[in-house]
Amino acid sequence: MPGRLIVALETSCDDTCAAVITGAGEIRSNVISSQGIHDRYGGVVPEIASRHHLELIGDVVAQALARAGTELERVDLVAVTAGPGLVGALLVGVATAKALAAAHELPLAAVDHLHGHVAAAFLGPEPFEPPFLSLIASGGHTLLAKVTGHGPRFELIGQTLDDAAGEAFDKGARLLGLGYPGGAALERLARDGDRAAFGFPRAAGVPGLDFSFAGLKTALLYRVRELGEAEAERRRADLAASYQHAIVEALAVRAERALAATGLERLAIGGGVAANGPLRARLAELGAELDVPPPALCTDNAAMIASAARYVPVLAYPGYLGLDVYATGERAPAA
Ligand code: KG4
Ligand code: ZN
Repeated sequence: MPGRLIVALETSCDDTCAAVITGAGEIRSNVISSQGIHDRYGGVVPEIASRHHLELIGDVVAQALARAGTELERVDLVAVTAGPGLVGALLVGVATAKALAAAHELPLAAVDHLHGHVAAAFLGPEPFEPPFLSLIASGGHTLLAKVTGHGPRFELIGQTLDDAAGEAFDKGARLLGLGYPGGAALERLARDGDRAAFGFPRAAGVPGLDFSFAGLKTALLYRVRELGEAEAERRRADLAASYQHAIVEALAVRAERALAATGLERLAIGGGVAANGPLRARLAELGAELDVPPPALCTDNAAMIASAARYVPVLAYPGYLGLDVYATGERAPAA
C-alpha cells in the first residue's frame, strides 16, 4: 500500500531515532537525537545509552509525528529495530514500539538493523533498486552484501573479522588526539597531509571479501611511538592521511573484488563511514553505478528501519507483545 504511513523507531546504539515514511518510500520526517554524552568516555557506554534513550524516545517520536503532520491514530504500521545492537538500548525502542502499537491495536514490524542500512537505498525520491552490491561501513559493522531483493535475506558475502571500519577511524583518531567519534575529524586533519607519507597495512593477508582492521590501529600506535611525541605531533596530518588511505583502500579493494565476483554492476554504500569524501571518490572510480545516500540516511536513522519494514512480515496485535531483542547473530527476526 503506497499511501500507508509507517512510523519507525531505532535505538540500537547511541542515537535515539524516529521517522515517518509512506509505503511508497517518501520520507515525511526523520528525527535523530545524538546523545553526545559518550564522547567524554571515548566510546559508547551501554547503560548510559539506555537511560538516555528512555529520556529521549517519547519526545523524538512526538517530533517525528508532528514534523510529518500526522498523529498515531493515522499511522498504519509501527516498526522497530529488534537487533543487532546493545540489548538495553534495543529494549527501550522495542518496549516503546509495542506500547505505541498496542495502544491503537496497530500491527508491528520487527526490523533487523543491517537490513535497515541496506534498505536506506530503497527510499525516495530516487530509490536504488536491486540487484546491487551493498557496502555498509559504520562504527559497529563492516560488510558486503549481495542484494537481489528487498527483503532481509540478502546474502552476506564479506564482513570484518575484528574491528569495524568506523571503529578503526575512531581508534586512529583517538591516537592522534582527536575526540570521539573521530572519523569526520580525522578526515579533516587528513586534508592537509600526504597519504603516501607512511605505509599502513591494508589487511592484504586476509583473502576474499572479509575485512580486518585490528592490525591497522596497532601499526599506527607503533608508528607514533617510533616517531616520538614531537615528531608525531608535527606529522599528524601525514599520519591521518596515510591511515585514512589504508582504510579506504581496504574497503575499495574488497568492493571491487565483490563486484567482479558477483557480476553486479551497481554499488550502494551506507553506514557512517560512507560520509567519508576520499572513500566516496575512490568508490566512484570503480566503474559501477554508485548510490550514495545523504549522510542522514547513511548514519543510524529510523527512516531506513521504516523502509525495511515494508519488506518484512508484519506481526498482528497482540502477537508481538512477547517480541524479544537480539544482540548479535540472527539476521532476520522470525515472524
Ligand atoms: O552508522 P553510524 O552513525 O553508527 C553506527 O552504527 O556505528 O557510524 C558511526 C561511525 C563512527 O565510527 C564515525 O567515526 C564514522 O562512522 N564516521 C566517519 C565519518 N563520519 C562518521 N568515518 C570516516 N569519515 C567520516 N567523514
Ligand atoms: Zn548502524
